[in-house]
Amino acid sequence: MGSGVVASHAPAHHEPRRRELALASLPATTSRAVGWWLLVLCAMVVGMVLLGGYTRLTHSGLSMVEWKPATVLPPGDEAAWQAAFDDYRRYPEYARINRGMTLDEFKSIYYPEYLHRLWGRALGLVLLGGFVWFVVRRRISRAMLPKVLGVMALAALQGVVGWLMVASGLVERPDVSHYRLAAHLLAAFAIYAWMLWLALAILRPPRPGGTAAARERLRRPVIAVAVLTVITATWGAFTAGLDAGFIYNRFPLMGDRPWPDSLGPGSALLAAVEEPGVVQFVHRMLAWTTAALAVWLVLRIRRSDLPAAARRTAALVPLVVAVQFALGVSTLVLTVPVALGMAHQLGALVLLSAALLALSDLRDREGAAEAAHRRPLRGPGRVRAAHP
Ligand code: HEM
Repeated sequence: MGSGVVASHAPAHHEPRRRELALASLPATTSRAVGWWLLVLCAMVVGMVLLGGYTRLTHSGLSMVEWKPATVLPPGDEAAWQAAFDDYRRYPEYARINRGMTLDEFKSIYYPEYLHRLWGRALGLVLLGGFVWFVVRRRISRAMLPKVLGVMALAALQGVVGWLMVASGLVERPDVSHYRLAAHLLAAFAIYAWMLWLALAILRPPRPGGTAAARERLRRPVIAVAVLTVITATWGAFTAGLDAGFIYNRFPLMGDRPWPDSLGPGSALLAAVEEPGVVQFVHRMLAWTTAALAVWLVLRIRRSDLPAAARRTAALVPLVVAVQFALGVSTLVLTVPVALGMAHQLGALVLLSAALLALSDLRDREGAAEAAHRRPLRGPGRVRAAHP
């Protein structure tokens, strides 16, 4: 008799108890291997964001007009390519923008989108496969389990948001909605940030020294920069989605003035999210605000009495803000070359990483005892680290 039949005879009230027992058998600490697995996934998200950026900047994103998650290979022969091309030609982007395109040109816009989707599936497999492996081998702690499940839920949702974004461009006006583009980019940032944060909690030993008050004094400006980075990135995605990087290609002025001609009383609120010139203006203003907060952080670092190591990681944040600002200005004044557009997008992720690294070093620790416990213990296969 199979175990499923036995299970079905078991009284229903035994179920919660069994679940409770299964959870109780999970370890109290998470293996460091889980931290490395999360870092590999972070690297894969970076690859995914870069591929997505390349796809958008080369106007390749609407070349695959169907969502078939089970299909892995590209069209196999000329007939299959022709069929994919015929499908594409039924949609407005072909009629309005790419009329007369050859099959070879079609292939050149098909492959970036294809690779982006393939990479997404590989990411899904590493995520799911790794999760099953670590749960079966009891390497994920009870406290960490719901967090990793949360990451997985968000990643699954991201696939759906990506398709909704593409679908929004397969209509009369062949341009994806800039709101959906922003949602897709921000979801990628959220998945990345969450995984990195968990990986740091597992892998990074606490930095000793310094009072809680001294850490708090640095933590505040770092959090402020991180929050502003996310808001600035949102308007960056609006700027990208509305092709607003192709207008007002001067800096610091926009034309002859510091603001766009379209900025006027009354229109401001809706224009801030819909009118390309004003959207670019808001992105600039937010970037200036981020830079101002970075200066505040520098002043706090200079006055801080924390150990040099903690101050050094915090100092990475304003450094990356400066690089990201310069990349933004270059992208704008050179009218969005593909490589610079991608570098600027990557810069936002690097900035977020620097802020998370600094915050992880500035977290309150329970003291040196925990630090000793968290350090890698040399030994066969049983190396574990505590985490919050
Ligand atoms: C802390 C500062 C900044 C952050 C975090 C940031 C972030 C971003 C992000 C995430 C994007 C979207 C990229 C995409 O979806 O492909 C973007 C686009 C853009 N940003 Fe920034 N940005 C910053 C500063 C600036 C500055 C100072 C400028 C120029 C004055 C600028 C100009 C642009 C332009 C032109 C685009 C559109 C590029 C495209 O079409 O691919 N950014 N930004």
